[in-house]
Amino acid sequence: MSFLTLNDVTYCYPNGFTAVENVSMSFEKGESVAIIGQNGAGKTTTVKMMNGLLKPTQGDVIIGGLNTKEYTTAQIAKKVGYVFQNPDDQIFHENVKSEIRFGPKNLGFSEEKIEENVMKAAELTGIVPFLDIHPYNLPYSLKKFVTIASVIAMDTETIILDEPTAGQDSLAIKRLGSIINSLVQEGKTIITITHDMEFVVENFDRVIVMANKRVVADSNKQEIFWDLDILEEAMLKQPHISRLSHTLNFKEKILNIDQMIDTLKNIR
Ligand SMILES: Nc1ncnc2c1ncn2[C@@H]1O[C@H](COP(=O)(O)OP(=O)(O)O)[C@@H](O)[C@H]1O
Ligand SMILES: [Mg+2]
Repeated sequence: MSFLTLNDVTYCYPNGFTAVENVSMSFEKGESVAIIGQNGAGKTTTVKMMNGLLKPTQGDVIIGGLNTKEYTTAQIAKKVGYVFQNPDDQIFHENVKSEIRFGPKNLGFSEEKIEENVMKAAELTGIVPFLDIHPYNLPYSLKKFVTIASVIAMDTETIILDEPTAGQDSLAIKRLGSIINSLVQEGKTIITITHDMEFVVENFDRVIVMANKRVVADSNKQEIFWDLDILEEAMLKQPHISRLSHTLNFKEKILNIDQMIDTLKNIR
């Protein structure tokens, strides 16, 4: 059985608007998966059902054998951590260190374990120099890393990142990639929503495409980035190198610049 499953899930907001319709997806332990799709496709609503912030109107969300309908959000938060798209929705402490301590403390970890998790998360996200600073005095990019550290410190089996690349420069995007990589190495399941196709190419194999409240594709990146119909339906662009190799009719599905250089050298 899968580790995390959404079974034919529909979500209707209290105002009557249905944001997600008949969505099914499942994840294995240790997988890293990107969810892509245009604004309003239903990505955030979908992932909020994975950590119990929202409970499905129809269908079931099963996490480690537990149906989220039968558990409180606090109980589910022990298993799945969610980093909000907007850090201001998540931050509420007067300094970075208390912000990161809050989650593991709330989960009842020992003082020793809290300290260990906080330092590990701060090191991994590169925010050790800012631990005594008020989070609101940090620039957006660092605030985002504070919220990521806060979730990492809870040591949940699954971590969801909602648009971590938005508003980040190339150095921060590289750091995000290496954070995801090291969490996956530890055996964690990482689910990331992003608009940055190059980031997907660099860091994920499996890609789920959402459009108009539904999943329209769930496959490996080679399949997804060569399927122009799916990309058009989801209003997404082919990554630059894929577009080049596709247009030039290359046999291989080339996704990054190094592979492209090798192929061109061979042709010459
Ligand atoms: N609290 C809410 N009440 C009503 N509609 C909402 C609410 N939050 C989001 N929506 C709507 O649900 C749809 C899907 O939103 P969302 O899941 O945030 O999509 P995405 O993350 O793919 O941009 C959008 O049309 C959005 O306006
Ligand atoms: Mg969203």
